[in-house]
Formats: sequence, structure tokens, C-alpha cells
Amino acid sequence: MVNLKDFEDQARKNLSSEVFDFLAGGAGDEITLKTNLESFQKVYLRPRVLVDVSQVDLSCEISGKKMRLPMIVAPMAFNRLAHTDGEVAMAKAAAKAQIGYTLSLNATKSIEEVAKAAPDLSSRPNWFQLYVLEDREMTKQLIERAVSNGHNALCVTVDRAVRGKRDIDIKNGFAIPKHFKPGNLEFGFAGGNTPQGGAFSAAHGIQIIDSKLNWKDLEWLSSVSQVPVILKGILHPLDAKRAIDCGIRGLVVSNHGGRNLDGVISPFEALSEVVDAVQSRADVFVDGGIRRGTDILKALALGAKAALIGRPLLWGLACDGENGVSRVIEILEEELRIAMALTGVPSLEKIDREILYWSRQSRA
Ligand code: FNR
Repeated sequence: MVNLKDFEDQARKNLSSEVFDFLAGGAGDEITLKTNLESFQKVYLRPRVLVDVSQVDLSCEISGKKMRLPMIVAPMAFNRLAHTDGEVAMAKAAAKAQIGYTLSLNATKSIEEVAKAAPDLSSRPNWFQLYVLEDREMTKQLIERAVSNGHNALCVTVDRAVRGKRDIDIKNGFAIPKHFKPGNLEFGFAGGNTPQGGAFSAAHGIQIIDSKLNWKDLEWLSSVSQVPVILKGILHPLDAKRAIDCGIRGLVVSNHGGRNLDGVISPFEALSEVVDAVQSRADVFVDGGIRRGTDILKALALGAKAALIGRPLLWGLACDGENGVSRVIEILEEELRIAMALTGVPSLEKIDREILYWSRQSRA
């Protein structure tokens, strides 16, 4: 398998069609899901030549934590749907590659199991993804548990005030299998606010995600979190500015992989305006539709500090557990290294918007 599409094709064969659809699918007509990928293809690289690229350095640093590559595992729920080792395999592969990692609140392995399997994760960006629950005491306890197990930032997802409508899961009658117990929440996965077609079977209790959450609550969040808070799911430059005013120093430009609201702008399209609004006062990250090393390079050129990688890692997991995830990361690394060399940028600091070209058609 030589590229990430090969892993997706193999994962489709390895998984039941309902599970594959749940992992791969998006909301509504899946227009945003497609746009996320296509928006990278509308922008071209504009190489510089005669640059010494005999050494290409892909390393970077986030809040004093070093990474070998500008990549972070995106928070993805229910990893055991893809492979029995679930989040443990994903975290071990991230640690081995020395990249960043995010554990989903809705993991199917616990914070403690992941910390035990991959203890060196804490020497790099090791985020805990949080949905703020209606039960604030439980939310606070989760934060404390995550931090005491080596998570060095909270990645608070803010683009899921209510659950989106995923037609494909409703049609498939998909529900998370009963034997998958929540790793982090004693009484059920985080969810709720769903009129129909929820992913949870009646066997799972549900901890309701707080749809009343608003800017004022960030003060409470910061007061109960001993680690920095990063907001995931920012698309609007005005929200980026507001977050900065609230003291937030990390933003993930994301539309939840097109899984929640269809018809939304792609993160790559939203990125430059967010970066411009932030004016270097926060680290900006991006996810959604990254399938090639060239996609990562384009995102970095627009000002992203690193890219969060989503579904392709699940395909790696579904193909060969930890080794499959490692292979997917290796492919992205190799593609990024080649793309940087052939664009004339031997290190991440040398990447800027000058290496991008918008055709007249894509500007229109
Ligand atoms: C996700 N995503 C997600 N995001 C989040 O903040 N908390 C979560 O629990 C999940 N769960 C989840 C499950 C599955 C199966 C997928 C595919 C995605 C969204 C994820 O973090 C990321 O934003 C997208 O996956 C990025 O898009 P691509 O790269 O997968 O297209």
C-alpha cells in the first residue's frame, strides 16, 4: 500500500459496511466532507529552485514540546470499532513516530490504559479532547484525571453544541455495539441532544454534552484546568478574535471532518482568515481532508503550526493495528519531506504563503 487511499480501500474491505460508513461518513449530503478534500486540490504549490535541500528538517515545537513531524493525531471516538487495540494502538504509534496525540473523551480505552501503554506521549503535545458536559463536576473530574495522566493541554470541541444529522447512520440503523464500554465515563458515552439516529444503543447511558456552553464558560474552564485550553472547531475569524480576547492560545480550525453540519466552509478555506485574525497571538492548527503530504505543506504555508490527521489513521488501524497507523504516518512523512524538498523549503520556518498559487478559477 503506497498511499492513504490504498489504506482506505483496504479498510473498507476489512470492516463491516455499517462501521466503515460510520467512520468515513459525513452529515447530510456529505458536500462538506467532499469539499474538505477538494479545497486542497484547488491550490497549487509554486516551487523555488536552486535551494540546498540535501537536509530537510520536519521537526517543530508546540508550547515547548518538541515533535519530529508537524502532525497530531485528531481526537476520534470509538477507536475499537477499527481494531480491538483501539486507542492504545493509536497512541503507541503516535509515541513511536514522536508526533502529537489527542485522546477523545469518547474513547473506548481509558485515560489510564493509554497513559500506561504510551507513557512517553507526555513529552510531546498530548491533548485530552473534552466535550463540556451538563454535569460540571464530572467534567472537572475528567480534566483532573487527564492532567494527572500526562495530558498537557485540553482540546475543547466547540462545534458540536447539538448532534448533527448523519443520514447514512440513520439509514444503516447504526449503533455503537453494546460491548464497547466508555473508557473515560463511567455511566455512558458523551452525546445526547439528538432527535434521531444517535450512534448510541439503548444499552449505553449518555452523559449529555452541554448545549448551553458559551463564551462566559471559558472563564470557568480555564479556572478548573491546570493546562492550556485549545478550542477545536473554529471557522470564523471573529470567533478566533474573541477566543484570543478570552485568553485562549490555541485554536483548531476544523469542521469536525464534515460529520456535524453539512454545507460548512472547509477548514483549509477558513484557515488564512483565522491566521490573519489571530496575528501570532495563538497557535493555529487545522484538520479535515488531509490525505497527502502536500496537503500538510499547503496548510503550513497558510500559517498552521501543525496538522491534525483524522480518518486515514483509522484506516491504518483497521488494516494492521499499531503497525498500520505507523505506516500511514510514515507515508505522510515521506510525502511531506519530498514536497518540501521539491518546493525549495528545507525547514518548516522557511514555509510561507509565497509557495502557494491560486489559479484564477479557484479564486472565483
Ligand atoms: C471524529 N472527530 C471527533 N472530534 C472530536 O473533537 N471529538 C471526537 O470524539 C471525534 N470523534 C470522531 C470520530 C470519528 C470516527 C471521526 C472520523 C472523526 C473529528 C476529528 O477530530 C477531525 O476533526 C476529523 O476527523 C478531521 O477530518 P478528516 O481528516 O478525518 O477528514
